[in-house]
Amino acid sequence: MAVNFMQPFGKQFDLARGVMLDPHECIVRRASEMRGYYADDAALERLIAEGDDPLHYETFESPVPEEPGQIRFCISKLYPGVVGQECFMTKGHYHAVPQTAEAYLCLAGQGLMLMKTADGACCWEEFRPGRLVYVPPCWAHRSINTGDEPLISLCLYPGEAGHNYGDIRTEGFPRRVYRRHGGVVVE
Ligand code: NI
Repeated sequence: MAVNFMQPFGKQFDLARGVMLDPHECIVRRASEMRGYYADDAALERLIAEGDDPLHYETFESPVPEEPGQIRFCISKLYPGVVGQECFMTKGHYHAVPQTAEAYLCLAGQGLMLMKTADGACCWEEFRPGRLVYVPPCWAHRSINTGDEPLISLCLYPGEAGHNYGDIRTEGFPRRVYRRHGGVVVE
């Protein structure tokens, strides 16, 4: 396999704040970019209008090329909150190359990783600090913040994986996660 030569490097994180210092790229998603993902569209519109289009999540990407043999890494920081009663979440995605896995090490916060396959299987795993969630090949994955603090994870995935958001946009996930009556429920 041909691999482009590159220099080794180190990367500094601020684990307390959940950020990668000097990231190659920072993807910022605000509430207005989440239209169509939550069950209660009106509640999302109220949040956008009254909350001044608040930050939803941020992803700090490493400068690793998207090539086979590389290991891409990023920090995912998902803010706490609800849309109606539905917990803040990421859009979720399949990998563009479906036979690629991903590992998420939770650094801070509380939440769930919701996962589904194209043929309808669905499950979830708990995020809490120090817990690694392994997403096998072919599983779409979405992070959900069920707590009161930012949910921060270190993600590692193969260089060639890529992202496929489109199929999730049309399919959705079969389950949603709510905060109701002081508890967290998956429906
Ligand atoms: Ni992924």
